[in-house]
Amino acid sequence: MNATIANDRNTDHVDLLMNKVESSADATARALVNTVLSPRFYTTRFKDFDEINVEPVRAEWDAMMAEYEGDNNHDHFQRDARFAQEVNQLMPQLTPELRQEFIDFLISSLTSEFSGCILYNEIRKNISNPDIRQLMTYMARDESRHAGFLNQSLKDFNLGIDLGGLKRSKKYTFFKPKYIYYATYLSEKIGYARYITIFRQLERHPDKRFHPIFRWFERWCNDEFRHGESFALIMRANPHLLTGVNRLWIRFFILAVYATMYVRDHSRPLLHEAMGLHSTEYDYEVFRITSQICRQVFPVELDIDHPAMRAGMDRLVEISAAHQRAKARGGLIGALLQGVHAVRAFGTFARMFFVPVKSHELPEQVRVAPVW
Ligand SMILES: [Fe+2]
Ligand SMILES: [Fe+2]
Repeated sequence: MNATIANDRNTDHVDLLMNKVESSADATARALVNTVLSPRFYTTRFKDFDEINVEPVRAEWDAMMAEYEGDNNHDHFQRDARFAQEVNQLMPQLTPELRQEFIDFLISSLTSEFSGCILYNEIRKNISNPDIRQLMTYMARDESRHAGFLNQSLKDFNLGIDLGGLKRSKKYTFFKPKYIYYATYLSEKIGYARYITIFRQLERHPDKRFHPIFRWFERWCNDEFRHGESFALIMRANPHLLTGVNRLWIRFFILAVYATMYVRDHSRPLLHEAMGLHSTEYDYEVFRITSQICRQVFPVELDIDHPAMRAGMDRLVEISAAHQRAKARGGLIGALLQGVHAVRAFGTFARMFFVPVKSHELPEQVRVAPVW
């Protein structure tokens, strides 16, 4: 890590502390924020979902639906007796900085989970395609459990978010259905990779498990994995989504999802340090797992170890911190600087986009097992 990035991280840190979340209203305000980096709520053109045909992957689809129906996590999202005990024992030991990063992590995770819940529910309500309706019912069920479970942990800090209010007040971003497939598939799979990497790390180092919620991550991320499988089957059943110009869209979405995660995670370095992880190594491990999984559906894969890709990621972290400083400065100069940094970020992203990708043939069998 170079000195500039270390300094920028400190600045980010001050920013997180200056905008502390101390009440439910602050937590809701944080969840309502819409920036390039924050989780968003989505809406789409629902009627297109009526035209999806899953017949080409029927056998794999039916096996997956049977798993959803079996609902092996139906009793998972309940706290055990140890939970409250661990919260009471561990939380007072956190430094104020780590506490804020952890709260930020809970709020952004909850916003993403709830975003999935709303989108899947809205699709279900607005379509008649029986296969997709059934799928959306199951996925909304899972995401609602996930969001509720996170909200309980926020309530321990007296920071519970009013989900009904959030649903009504947060801005919705329109995405064409095909962008929903790419982005949602990726966010489900990267969600799996993030949770399993944390779970495995804390399995090896239980002394670094500073909150009981991490004990839930293994079975939790199997839900996310299965959600991703659903979108993989939808895309493989409609192969035009994976050829021609769409290969460029796939590249774009992989890069956007990876870069967003990288920048966001690097504004919370203490969270990873507390678990004995380093944000950079953690993120590349998550990229590695996600890229392996994505071979089931995407014909192209980013070269995550390419020096230009790695340099670009760090540059985006640095630009994001500079953008934050310009925003804090305010006034005309602050506004001009923010514009300059936005252009720099765009240029860096474009250069990363043109780093050569790896291409491969898609496997005959679509589904893969969550074995990481
Ligand atoms: Fe989820
Ligand atoms: Fe999910």
